[in-house]
Amino acid sequence: MTTTIPTENLLSLAQTYGLPLFVYDTKVIDGQIQKLRSAFDVPRLEIRYASKAQNTISILRHIYNQGCGIDTVSPGEIVMALKAGIPSSVISFTPSGVITDEYAFAIEHGVHVHADQPYILEWLDQHYPGTAVTLRFNPAIRAGGHTKLQVGADGSKFGILSSQVKNIISLTKKLSLKITGVHMHLGSDISDSASFDEAYEYLLSVAQIWADTIDHVDLGGGFKIPYHPDDHSIDMISFGARVSERFNRFCADIGREITLVFEPGKFLLSAAGYLLMEVTNVRTEGSVPMVYVQSGFNHFLRPMNYGAYHHLINISNTNGEIQFYDVVGYLCETDTFALNRPISEIHQGDVLCLLNAGAYGYSMASTYNGRPRPAEVMINDGQATLIRRAETIDDLLRTDLGVNSE
Ligand SMILES: Cc1ncc(COP(=O)(O)O)c(C=O)c1O
Repeated sequence: MTTTIPTENLLSLAQTYGLPLFVYDTKVIDGQIQKLRSAFDVPRLEIRYASKAQNTISILRHIYNQGCGIDTVSPGEIVMALKAGIPSSVISFTPSGVITDEYAFAIEHGVHVHADQPYILEWLDQHYPGTAVTLRFNPAIRAGGHTKLQVGADGSKFGILSSQVKNIISLTKKLSLKITGVHMHLGSDISDSASFDEAYEYLLSVAQIWADTIDHVDLGGGFKIPYHPDDHSIDMISFGARVSERFNRFCADIGREITLVFEPGKFLLSAAGYLLMEVTNVRTEGSVPMVYVQSGFNHFLRPMNYGAYHHLINISNTNGEIQFYDVVGYLCETDTFALNRPISEIHQGDVLCLLNAGAYGYSMASTYNGRPRPAEVMINDGQATLIRRAETIDDLLRTDLGVNSE
């Protein structure tokens, strides 16, 4: 991990906007988009940012302005993308196991749909004959940084299983739908490019079946980025060269140039985000000093949900002596951010900065324990803008119809 953290700037944002606070730096997002683009040498490349990673409208708009489309998984995410001014022609919809009404919503809004279950294909044929559809396949390969993220593994709930392919072939022959693409998403935090190559080879073999009608192959997202200072990222250059070579051969085989699509979430957003939290207390009794912060897994779930490592920096005392701390949140559960973690000396009132907070941070945040969600600030061209205000307790009560009844 070689990121330079703008600590002075973050401290001043903490003072201006209060804590806890999410901050996103668009320079990092743009750099990641550029890194991805320059790694591939194919006639047509499309990046469809997986908006589940972070779907605040200003961020979506920024990413679209960098030339990317958006992948969504719900009507809510479709509306967020449309509100960002993103045309439906570059929005796709890749849900899982949803009611057909959601497909109707996507199609009525002009959004391209992905399907991975026969019931969806049959319903689309009946209600929207002739619709263009991308088929999502399950490559049956276990890859990804955590078992909960290995969504392309055999038997996972996602994608058409290899045992279903024959049925899907006869179904699509019978139905009026136009199969315009094939798709897979292996999982998240994937650095093992061998599993990716294997899955991709499988997808291309399936793509041959619909070679006459497809105009894109979508390889999903899941690229690993570093979390720990000694961690590594996927080697995008060699990965890109291999994928491009194989994809170009595929295009030559089918005699047409089609589009290669990726749906990265974490790769674009993770390192762009910081979560700033105030230290409320340092308990020195016990085997390891314990640092309490005014936040918790209601704001940032990944350490508790996936055991994810997120680096922590004391931006109030960056040059202090390194000591080991447990860092915990304020929720009434164990709520652990880090155990026995080396951090420069911490005092009550200091500001801790959690790194890689850009992806699956705010978008997974909740109001658990009756706690409003934090504000969000975006830094663009060195200019900080509040892009989402902090919630209030009134926001929490807004949908509760018991408020005014005795
Ligand atoms: C269909 C699909 N595409 C893309 C992604 C993005 O994955 P990542 O954020 O790991 O790149 C996901 C994440 O769950 C997904 O489900």
